[in-house]
Formats: sequence, C-alpha cells, structure tokens
Amino acid sequence: MEPSSSSLKKPEKRLGIIKILLVIAAGCSLIIGWFIFSSQTNPYIKETLSLKGSSDHGERLFRMNCAGCHGIKAQGLVGPSLKKVSSRIGDKKIINQIINGRTPPMPSFEMEPQTMADLLAHLHSIN
Ligand code: HEC
Repeated sequence: MEPSSSSLKKPEKRLGIIKILLVIAAGCSLIIGWFIFSSQTNPYIKETLSLKGSSDHGERLFRMNCAGCHGIKAQGLVGPSLKKVSSRIGDKKIINQIINGRTPPMPSFEMEPQTMADLLAHLHSIN
C-alpha cells in the first residue's frame, strides 16, 4: 500500500507553523527590547540626569510650581507628601511624573533639563 499524499505533507506543514511562530517570537522580543532600550535612553531624561542641579534654585521653583499642592515643606496637601520621594521612587519616575501629566489634577510641566536637574536637587534634599 502506498501512503496517501496528504499524510506525507503533514509533518512539513507543522514545521512551517513552527517557523512562523519562531519569527513572531523573534519579532516580539525585538519590540520589547526596543521599548526597554528607548526608555533607558530617553534623551531628555539622560541629559537631565547628567547635569548637576542647584538645590537653591530648585527650592524656588518648588515654591512657585509645586508647593501649592504638595505643601511648602513637601509635607503633602492636595498632592501626596514628597518626603524621601527620591529614594522611594527614583529620579526617572519623578521626571516622568512631572512631564507626563498622566495623574490629574497634577499638571504636566515643561522645563529645560537644567531646570529639572535643579528641581531634582531640591527633592533630594527633602527628607
Ligand atoms: C494641581 C496640584 C499639583 C501640582 C501643582 C503639582 N502636583 Fe505633584 N501631584 C499631585 C497629585 C494629586 C499627585 C498624586 C497623583 C497620583 O498618583 O494620582 C502628585 C504626585 C506627584 C509625585 C509622585 C509622588 C509619589 O509618591 O509617587 C511627584 C514626584 C510630584 N507630584 C512632584 C511634583 C512636582 C515636582 C511639582 C512641581 C513642579 C508638582 N508635583 C506639582 C498634585 C500636584
């Protein structure tokens, strides 16, 4: 008895599906890798973190822009207390929080990297 042609084809078909799945998996890991890579190299965050901030200027900025919600001593008011916020959530998350505006009522702020570095320097000093 000769095997029918359809039963001969089956193993090849399965290999084809495995190849397609491998290509999809490779594509997914490329996309995930790209996201991680680009979040680590966000040029604005990178530049900000490379600068040395002035906490005096940062304190003035904080009083003008943030104290209304976070309290003059960052003790918390409308917004949460920002005491020890640097060690709690880290600079990258703080920068994202300030520029994103994803958590109303906190607005998004646009500022030069140096200004952001000054503000971070002040936040570092809040304990
Ligand atoms: C209109 C009020 C308002 C102003 C102005 C404001 N914030 Fe906020 N902020 C909030 C609120 C409300 C939250 C909580 C958001 C949430 O997580 O839902 C918050 C959260 C934060 C957080 C995250 C705290 C945490 O523990 O995760 C940081 C950091 C922060 N604000 C920094 C600032 C800085 C710096 C400024 C000034 C440049 C500022 N905020 C101005 C209302 C404000």
